[in-house]
Amino acid sequence: MTYKDRLPCGSLRIPDTGRAVLLAGWVDALRDHGELVFIHLRDRSGIVQVIFSPEFADQTIMKSASTLRNEFCVAIRGRVQQRAAGTENPNLDTGSIEVMATDLTILSKSEALPFIISEKAMVAGAGDRVADAVSEDLRLQYRYLDLRRPTMQGHLLKRHRIIKVVRDFLDEQGFIEIETPMLTKSTPEGARDYLVPSRVHPGNFYALPQSPQLFKQLLMVSGYERYFQIVRCFRDEDLRPNRQPEFTQLDLEASFIDEGFIYDLMEALIVRMFAVAVVDLPRPFPRMAYDEAIDTMGSDRPDTRFGLRFVEATDIFRNTSYGIFKQILQRGGCIKGVNIKGQSEKLSKNVLQNEYAREIVPGFGAKGMTWMRVMEGGLESNIVQFFSEEEQQAILARFGAETGDVIVMIADASYDLVTSVLGQLRLHMADRLGLIPANVYSPLWVTDFPLFLATDEGITSSHHPFTAPDRTDFDPSDRDMLLSLRSRAYDVVVNGEELGGGSIRINDRDVQRKIFQALGLTDQEVEEKFGFFLRALDYGAPPHGGIALGMDRVVSMILGTSSIREVIAFPKNRSAFCPLTQAPSPVGREQLEELGLLGSGDAKNAAGTDQQRDLVDALAWVSRIGVGEQERPMIAGALKEAMRLAGRLSERQGDEEPLFCVAGDVNRMRKPGGARPSPYAESGEIFKNAPAVKGNYFKVAAVLE
Ligand code: AMO
Repeated sequence: MTYKDRLPCGSLRIPDTGRAVLLAGWVDALRDHGELVFIHLRDRSGIVQVIFSPEFADQTIMKSASTLRNEFCVAIRGRVQQRAAGTENPNLDTGSIEVMATDLTILSKSEALPFIISEKAMVAGAGDRVADAVSEDLRLQYRYLDLRRPTMQGHLLKRHRIIKVVRDFLDEQGFIEIETPMLTKSTPEGARDYLVPSRVHPGNFYALPQSPQLFKQLLMVSGYERYFQIVRCFRDEDLRPNRQPEFTQLDLEASFIDEGFIYDLMEALIVRMFAVAVVDLPRPFPRMAYDEAIDTMGSDRPDTRFGLRFVEATDIFRNTSYGIFKQILQRGGCIKGVNIKGQSEKLSKNVLQNEYAREIVPGFGAKGMTWMRVMEGGLESNIVQFFSEEEQQAILARFGAETGDVIVMIADASYDLVTSVLGQLRLHMADRLGLIPANVYSPLWVTDFPLFLATDEGITSSHHPFTAPDRTDFDPSDRDMLLSLRSRAYDVVVNGEELGGGSIRINDRDVQRKIFQALGLTDQEVEEKFGFFLRALDYGAPPHGGIALGMDRVVSMILGTSSIREVIAFPKNRSAFCPLTQAPSPVGREQLEELGLLGSGDAKNAAGTDQQRDLVDALAWVSRIGVGEQERPMIAGALKEAMRLAGRLSERQGDEEPLFCVAGDVNRMRKPGGARPSPYAESGEIFKNAPAVKGNYFKVAAVLE
C-alpha cells in the first residue's frame, strides 16, 4: 500500500461526490447493523462517515469490517457519495457526504479502551458527545490516547500556531533565537532547583535552569542585542493549577532599551497571539503601580474585569466608640471596605454573618468581617447600633452607598492583612455573584514593584537579584532604605493571572555587588555562585532588559482551558508525578553508586534506591495530594506509628475485635464477622470535630487543587 494518494478525512465535501478516495485513520465510533457497518473514521483533519455495504464491498471486506472495534487503525478505499436527504449529520464538517468502502486494511488493532475517546455523535441530529468525566490521572496514564481526542489535538495545534506567531514576530523585530544550557548552575528565581548529579565529577551537581536569566544577560554582554528563546524551565515548588515543575517560557532580552520598548514590543506580540483565537485585545494596556494594585484590589496581579475596588475608611472611625475598631486603630491599624452594589437580595444577613463573617473570611486569615446592608430606612447590621449617626452618614457618603447595596469592611492592625483578606473576599464575591463578565480579557502592566520584600530572616528580592533598582545610591546595610527602594520591573497580568514578568537589569558590577550584599550573601558566596557573572559585567556590559512570558499560561488563557495541563502534551499531575512513565521513580543501587551518591553508609537503606521507596511520596501519590516539605516529618511520623500498629495487629490476628466502620460495610479481609457500624456514627458523635454543622450536613473544607 502506498499512502501517496491519501486524503484527509475532514477535507471531503459535496464537490468530492463520485471521487475514489484512500483514507487512513482511527475508528472513532461504529454501528454494526449486520448487513451494513457504519464507522466514523477520524484522522487529524476530522471525521468522515464510512459505510461498508455488500453493494460495494465483497464478502471478505464485509467480514473484516465486522471485526472492527473502536480505535483500530485502518486504511480504507471507497467512493464519496452525497448523503440521502434527512441523513446529513450537522455535527460533522463532512456531514453531507459519506464514503462507500470498497476496500479495508486493518493496520493495527486496539485493546478495549480505558475511556471513551470519541467526541462526536454518530446519529444525525444528536448533540456532540460530552467526554465522560474521566479522572485526570487515568487520562495522563494513557496520555497517548487522551491526545487522540480532537479537543486535545486542537489545543496542541493552536499552541503550535501561537508559538509560530511568536517566532515570526520576533524574527521580524530582529530578535534571534539562541539556545542556552540545560545542565547549568543554579539561577535564583525563588524556587528550589532540580539537581542532576555528575558522574565525571563525583559529588558535584548541575542544576536545571529555573530560567535562562544569566545566560540571556551574558548574551547581551556578548553583543547579540536582541535574543529570544522558547525554553523549558524547571522549578521545584509547590504545585498549583497554573504551575508545572517544568514549563515553557518565551524568554527575551534586548540591549539599549528602556521599559517603553518592552511595553510596545510585548503588547504588539500579545495582541497577535490572542488573535490566533480571534480574541481582540485593546491597546495600549493600562498600567498600574504595585502600591495602587495592593491598595485598591489587594493583589499584585489584580483582576480588572470588574470593579469592587477598596474604599479607605480608617479616618471615618478615628473617634469611634465601637470597641473592636477602637482597639485596632489604637494599634496603628486600618479599615478598608468594598461596596457591593445592588446585591443585598443575594447577600442576606444570614449569608453575610454566618457564611462570610464566621467562616469564609476567617479562612482568608482575618478575625472577622464587618457588614452592612443599605436598606430604605438606613444601615442594617448586627453592630450598626455601635456606630454614631455621624459615622453612619460618613460610611454612606464615602462608599457612595444606595439602597440595595452591601458594604463589607475588614479592620486589622496589619495593613498587609487587611488588603490581602479584602483582595480574596473581592474575588470570592465577584465569583459568587457572577460579577465577572464572560469572554472579556483585561490586560494590565503592573509596575513600580518594591525591589525587596521583608522576610522573617531578612529581605529577599521581589523578582530576582538582577533587577535594576530605581536608584543606585542606597546603603546595602540600611534595611529600611532597602525596603523603600522600587525596582524597574514590570509584570503583565491578564484577568488576574500573571502571564509574564521582567525588568531592566543592573549592568554595573558595583551595583550588582551591593544587591548581593543587601541580600546577605558573603563575598565568598557571591564568588561561588555568581563570580562568573560579575566578571562579565566588567567587560563593557550594555544597558539591557527583558521579560519572560509563561507560554503554558498564555496558551491556556487564550484557549480558555481549566488548567495549563490541558495545553501541555505530557504534563505532570498535581503531585508532580507522571502517571504515564511513573516518573519520578527509584533507581538501581548501581546507578547511584556510579554517581557517587551512596557514600559509605548502609547503601541498602538509602532513600531513592529501589530497595527503599519513600513512603510519604507513595502515600501522596495514592491519595493524589501534594505534600509540602514542612508536612513531611509529621506524616512520616504518623505513617511509622500506623505501621507499628499494623504490625501489632497482624501479630495478634484472631483475638482482635473487628474494626468499626461508619456505614454497615462488610470487611472481606477479616473473617468471621464484618466490621461493625460504629455507634458513634449513628449518634453523630463521630463527626463532633467536623468544622461546622448546618442542618443535617457536616461542612468540610472545599477540596482545592
Ligand atoms: P518569572 O519567574 O516571573 O520571571 O517567570 C516568568 C513567567 O513564567 C511563568 N511561570 C510558570 N509557568 C508555569 N509553571 C511554573 N512553575 C511557572 N513559574 C513561572 C509565569 C511567569 O510570569 N527570568 C525571569 C524573567 C525576566 O526577568 O526576564 C523569570 O523567569 O507566567
